[in-house]
Amino acid sequence: MDFIKVCDFSEVPDGDAIKVEKNGLEIAIFNVDGELFATQDRCTHGDWSLSEGGYLEDDVVECSLHMGKFCVRSGKVKAAPACAPLKVYSLKVEADEVFLDFDSGRITS
Ligand code: FES
Repeated sequence: MDFIKVCDFSEVPDGDAIKVEKNGLEIAIFNVDGELFATQDRCTHGDWSLSEGGYLEDDVVECSLHMGKFCVRSGKVKAAPACAPLKVYSLKVEADEVFLDFDSGRITS
């Protein structure tokens, strides 16, 4: 595991998301009732940002382009037209700092 600091916890609004990036790899960090989850930022259905153009309700993000839905905990598809799951990434919070392992992307479902 190679965690690097990506932001402060306070920078990720509750019920919303931010995007972080390393070497062109864009990751969305979602705040679900104070718990953070990280997935690939790009919707698997099209080239669209989930952090900037998505709507988060509980732990499900809805893509604003065609309304596909994904669970941000597991990356699992929750609604068509999305059909491929998102990669999820390992993160940890220490004090107010958020650390992400950009090499940990995996499909869990
Ligand atoms: Fe996200 Fe089509 S680009 S559902």
